[in-house]
Amino acid sequence: MNPKQDRRIKIVGSGYYVPDKVLTNADLEKMVDTSDEWITTRSGIKERRIAAPEQASSDLALEAAKRALDDAGMTKDDIDLIIVCTATPDTAFPSTACWVQKGLGTDHIPALDIGAACSGFLYGLIVSESLILSGTNKRILLIATESLSKITDWEDRTTAVLFGDGAAAAVLEESDDDSGILSHYWKADGNLAEVLLQPGGGSRMPCSYAVVDEKMPFLRMRGNEVFKHAIKRMGEAAAEAIAKAGLTHEDVDWLIPHQANIRIITATGKRLHIPDEKVFVNIHKYGNTSCVTTPTALHEMKETGMLKQGDIIVLVAFGAGFTWAAITYRW
Ligand code: UT7
Repeated sequence: MNPKQDRRIKIVGSGYYVPDKVLTNADLEKMVDTSDEWITTRSGIKERRIAAPEQASSDLALEAAKRALDDAGMTKDDIDLIIVCTATPDTAFPSTACWVQKGLGTDHIPALDIGAACSGFLYGLIVSESLILSGTNKRILLIATESLSKITDWEDRTTAVLFGDGAAAAVLEESDDDSGILSHYWKADGNLAEVLLQPGGGSRMPCSYAVVDEKMPFLRMRGNEVFKHAIKRMGEAAAEAIAKAGLTHEDVDWLIPHQANIRIITATGKRLHIPDEKVFVNIHKYGNTSCVTTPTALHEMKETGMLKQGDIIVLVAFGAGFTWAAITYRW
């Protein structure tokens, strides 16, 4: 959105949910050939949460959604659209948003999923902004949810140590004051799709005994390639979003980067000339929960009083696709 325009959308309620089960680096040392020292220094992760066998992504989403509605002082009847961002849907169809709608027991409001992997929540905010400012929807429940543990190869040390499960949600409506989204920037590059993907189980490689034997329904990642692109693209996206808002790096009170790797987070802050104390980090507690990291960070910061009215926040993410996006937000 052009900062000179006076209409914007804002978050009026938020919440997150993580499953009870904690998987520590010490636990992983017993499962694969790794060490707490390697995981901590290479990724910044100390522990992550793991969904129970009976918990699907919509179950996590539902908990986060209820908390966000409570936080907004609203009920399911106050929303007119459900958007779910996820790379680990309950089912390919119906959408996870429809499962959430069933769980919430809403009227026949529309429900849809957005597939943008780790950039999903930011993509969701950008889509929501258009829908609300065009008058199509008044109040949107935007949920990010992942149960990545369900598509993790627990024998592959290069990925098993990185990911976690969780969900976070936000209630969005048109802002009635100065706060809300000031600008956005979003991009994708499908040429690099094969660097990070779930190869099997879709129409390209339908499920068969051979596909399962080859572990194709599990997440595959060439981590080092992702790493290099993530640093470049997150820096670029955040810089573009800040400039589009008519601001500079000196105006930024908080940088909230996608929590994929502490080294990516730190490098992104450095590229943007934003000091470490203004860069939010909680990767040690949850690992990489894909699109869930940025809304979880926002809610944690709000809950702990870190965010002050008027603070300029930059949210930035990068993920499979590749997709990347950034948003400048006045709290
Ligand atoms: O959410 C968006 C998508 N994801 C990301 O943004 C993740 C991006 N990538 C990364 O965070 C990093 O690339 C990783 C944390 C995945 C890996 O760090 P790296 O510094 O890029 O390490 P590497 O892949 O180059 O591997 C270095 C070494 C290798 O051994 P050799 O070949 O040098 O002998 C790996 O086999 O570390 C080895 N290694 C491990 N050692 C102990 C890989 N995983 C492990 C492990 N424990 N878990």
